[in-house]
Amino acid sequence: MIGELTRSEEAIRLENKYGAHNYHPLPVVLSKGEGVYVWDAEGKKYFDFLSAYSAVNQGHCHPKIVNALKTQAETLTLTSRAFYNDALGEYEKFITSFFGFDKVLPMNTGAEAVETAIKLSRKWAYEKKGVHENEAKIIVCENNFHGRTTTIISFSNDPDARENFGPYTRGFIRIPYNDIESLKEVLDEEKEHIAAFLVEPIQGEAGVFVPGDGFLSEAYKACKKANVLFVADEVQTGVARTGKLLACDYENVKPDILILGKALSGGAYPVSAVLASNSIMEVIRPGQHGSTFGGNPLAARVAIAALEVVKEEGLADNAMKLGKIFRERMNKIVAKSDLVAKVRGKGLLNAIVINDAHNSTTAWDICMKLKENGLLAKPTHGNIIRFAPPLVMNEKQLNECCDIIQNTIEEFEKA
Ligand SMILES: Cc1ncc(COP(=O)(O)O)c(C=O)c1O
Repeated sequence: MIGELTRSEEAIRLENKYGAHNYHPLPVVLSKGEGVYVWDAEGKKYFDFLSAYSAVNQGHCHPKIVNALKTQAETLTLTSRAFYNDALGEYEKFITSFFGFDKVLPMNTGAEAVETAIKLSRKWAYEKKGVHENEAKIIVCENNFHGRTTTIISFSNDPDARENFGPYTRGFIRIPYNDIESLKEVLDEEKEHIAAFLVEPIQGEAGVFVPGDGFLSEAYKACKKANVLFVADEVQTGVARTGKLLACDYENVKPDILILGKALSGGAYPVSAVLASNSIMEVIRPGQHGSTFGGNPLAARVAIAALEVVKEEGLADNAMKLGKIFRERMNKIVAKSDLVAKVRGKGLLNAIVINDAHNSTTAWDICMKLKENGLLAKPTHGNIIRFAPPLVMNEKQLNECCDIIQNTIEEFEKA
């Protein structure tokens, strides 16, 4: 207790009073994490079913990642790119061969990596494709989520993300997600202006929308035909989350530009990356893009360890196996319940759709009950609950979580 308040109440009071109100967290105060579990300030244990929006794929405080962080933190943390450091080159070799690209441009957050990909695509369009000055356009999808910078929210159609943040950056064309005909139409009409098609292989924030089979590979082919870069934002879907190393792997699509973030560090440190071929990456020359922290030795060592964990522990295969069990269990609930309309997802990136008005609080209320029952999840847009546990979960734990979800839904329906 701190005065009259519990430690959790005091932590919430402080955030409310001194922090900007740019989030609406579930009222739980976390103070410790290990593997698939987190503990609140009073010591109650929960299953983490969000994984910091898929950043903690390797589980909380993974010892190998924490060790890499500690060792490098005691040695050298930041040099800036004014000088070379002895970890970056090693990391660049490691990550490019891990994902099969020639070059990487290291950044910190997902949004920064998306910005980097946008700049890279535009520059490529002017210098390689021959697009006229200031005329390059990028095709994006409705209900996209690529981050929070001014340019990125310029092509969002989420009113909360956009309203009163204008004027907006020009040069984006929005088409419906999962609509190959619309993509082909725009590519046909504006071929000579289009630099890139920027797409999430599964729309995570929008509510885990999985496109139809063939959409990504057809889109890739259409882009090739029009000499347009296919840019995959795998910040949320990448690094084993969907049951493959990349969600694009389901359709054997190798993006021209790959954007990664979040689980690239296992949640230990902000690390993001843009990967591409030599012929694309070479358009960026010294002084044209960068970041003080991008490519620092701490990030480099953490990311190597985080990616090694993904391979060593077979996290993609585990996500694939557990994802199937999860959706089977949820489909049984869907069959019995009026409250849950459907489950969708791939690997361990899933969501259930609640059968209630888009603006009702039902999904939130269910998440509050899940919290009481020891499982943390959060509604995403509308009445949808995203379920994305750490990929180090085992089958027994997953079944325990499915029992909690099932019991909670049943309790909720009875109430
Ligand atoms: C697909 C996608 N791109 C980009 C981002 C932005 O990442 P960050 O919050 O690290 O800037 C997110 C974050 O949720 C995301 O899901």
